[in-house]
Amino acid sequence: MPTAARIPATSPIGRDTPRVDGKLKVSGKAQYCSDFHFPGLLYAVPVEATIAAGRVVGLDTAAAEKMPGVRAILHRANIGKISRSVLGPGFARICVERRPPFEDDVVRYYGQYVALAVADTFESAKAAADAIRVTYAREKPNVDADLKADDDPDVVETSYGPEHRMQSERGDPDAAFANAAVKLDQTYVTPSQTHNPIELQGTTAMWDGPMLTIYEESQGIFNMRGVLAQMFGLPEENVRVVTRFVGSGFGSKLWPWAHCPLAVAAARQVGKPVKLVLSRKMTFQSAGHRARTQQRVRLGAAKDGKLVSLQHDYVYERSMLEVYHENCGEATAFQYSVPNLRVRFGRARRNIGTPSDMRGPGAVPGLYATESAMNELADQLGIDPVALRRMNEPKIDEGLKLPFSSRHLLECFDLGAEKFGWSKRSPGVGSMKRDGLTLGWGMAGCSWIAGRFPASASVQLRDDGTTRVACGTQDIGTGTDTILAQLGAAKTGVPLEKVEVALGDTSLPEGPTSGGSLATASIVPAVFAAADNAIAALLQVATRTSGSPFEKRNADELAFEDGRVFVKASGSAGGVPFADVLRRANLHVVTGSGKSEAMFGDPSAKFSTHAFGCHFVEVTWQPEIARLRVGRVVTVIDAGRIINPLAGRNQIEGGVIFGIGMALFEHTTYDPQNGAPINASLADYIVAVNADMPPIEVHFLDYPDTVINELGAKGVGEIGAAGVAAAVTAAVHHATGVRVRELPVKIENLLA
Ligand code: MOS
Repeated sequence: MPTAARIPATSPIGRDTPRVDGKLKVSGKAQYCSDFHFPGLLYAVPVEATIAAGRVVGLDTAAAEKMPGVRAILHRANIGKISRSVLGPGFARICVERRPPFEDDVVRYYGQYVALAVADTFESAKAAADAIRVTYAREKPNVDADLKADDDPDVVETSYGPEHRMQSERGDPDAAFANAAVKLDQTYVTPSQTHNPIELQGTTAMWDGPMLTIYEESQGIFNMRGVLAQMFGLPEENVRVVTRFVGSGFGSKLWPWAHCPLAVAAARQVGKPVKLVLSRKMTFQSAGHRARTQQRVRLGAAKDGKLVSLQHDYVYERSMLEVYHENCGEATAFQYSVPNLRVRFGRARRNIGTPSDMRGPGAVPGLYATESAMNELADQLGIDPVALRRMNEPKIDEGLKLPFSSRHLLECFDLGAEKFGWSKRSPGVGSMKRDGLTLGWGMAGCSWIAGRFPASASVQLRDDGTTRVACGTQDIGTGTDTILAQLGAAKTGVPLEKVEVALGDTSLPEGPTSGGSLATASIVPAVFAAADNAIAALLQVATRTSGSPFEKRNADELAFEDGRVFVKASGSAGGVPFADVLRRANLHVVTGSGKSEAMFGDPSAKFSTHAFGCHFVEVTWQPEIARLRVGRVVTVIDAGRIINPLAGRNQIEGGVIFGIGMALFEHTTYDPQNGAPINASLADYIVAVNADMPPIEVHFLDYPDTVINELGAKGVGEIGAAGVAAAVTAAVHHATGVRVRELPVKIENLLA
């Protein structure tokens, strides 16, 4: 394994670095996608189906068309051609709802778009959309919450490619379970959840002849470009996607949804820029959500707690249109050492919008189930849940049969237990009190994938002593702007405030999707290679400039450190700033490009690459008034080198908050009569807010993982949310004696 790159003392890598775009955001100068205005801009409002199953049999647009300011009413008969897009190699062109809008008159979920009003103002467009009369042939929708697998094939084409129903198998899990001294067989349920980023989704589209530009708050601008190019029959270079700032996404903005091609088709029709911003209600219906899951976990163990069998059988909801694979078994095959194991799944068709990735997709609901089962097994055995995990710590990834690139989960447990004071835990239900409150303590482990998407970047050194780092990725609020600035500063010696960052535009070198917590790890090697190439170009310039102190030297006699060029043999003391080298050559700029290769889903991988961590949670319980609060959380994360600990802690805190919301509040509920998400507003869909939050203490281990990149940095986005719900429900049980196996924990559960 290579050793980690040496980081100069002056480098901002590993230092708490406030966001470079922070001032723009807090001063309101940051322009989000729907803030952009263009001359002649029109507004579009979709008409949402009010049934979840059936057909559109009539569409009366006469009244709407006559309304003031209305420019067009689009529907199936007049929208023009929109083609399907197809999945490309290497996770290219992912689209979890590939059916182009208005492709047929079948309604498969409530809120499916059936028409679009385009007008001079948003208000006119809304009024026109409301005036369109739609008649339906109505069928009974299936939004049944009880999930039974209803599709059989062993291999199914999903939005990510083919998936096998049997995910992992080793040994003889049935026999081992049957013969196990201690058995646990429980089913855990997680509800549909909706992402609810504060910034709503939307598209502003405009055409210039054959060139299409869209402003879209996307987590993956190049993926968006590829899908739209196919849908509108364009070469990819004719499509430009701009995403300068994103008001977070949590996965909802990873892939194109039906509103994107609708806005593009409307702009094509009216020959003007068109803006379409979803309502909050629409985002519940037609812009992705976390699939409901039902997960049966069977554990067999010896009397001392050593696992002998693990079976994880889960079912998740899919839409009528697509299979989005909710990979609940993501961590199951490697988290613990167990000789006999089976992970398999099924899907249940429902009349709902297509589910999609939501913060820690698969692993977050999956680890809720498996970590809950481990906690229950520990209680059943009468041993400490940390001790049970310690006893079952694997030496290698037993699913892939590969060594871990790095795994320090036991050290996470040690540090977490110490910081939390876990040794003071008395295991009896309701046995711990403080200030008149009953305390519940619970814990869980977690993991999340680590790796890289392919990425490219460019770095410029400029004659004014500044540098520019360009990468066509996007900052979804996680701090990618700042990471790019830190990487540029570290390599060029230019102070952070003189590093210009360019991102969020497909006219830049193709950067990674902001998904899977992989963006940071992906851009490190690309930016570093680009900077090395810019520096190499600079050294060439230095040797070829007449009058340069380095004239006629070989470039390999020269070195570059902290922004200065010098002769290696004479040391850095007499170095010349790169701006001087460029000015003497009358060059404004030298540019280097760099690439990094994908390291995700690679069947020839030599290592199993993941981040690990754990959460220790205290809840307080007042049975007299049935008041449950999360009192404090201690989280320890092993994610390699943390490039920006300030932003990293912020990410993990956000993940923990998400996890507490998952445990106690969040659930999207569908009306069995008409299939509508009933609580489709921020008033009725409860997310965790500051008032719900306890102190959250975040610690990072510092083990650079150089299998991932030369800095040893893994991602720190989604792992913060993984495992939290299992720790919370364990704490709830410890305080109240009630085992809740269907999220969220409702106060009614605790009154029994
Ligand atoms: Mo994340 S669900 O990959 O945005």
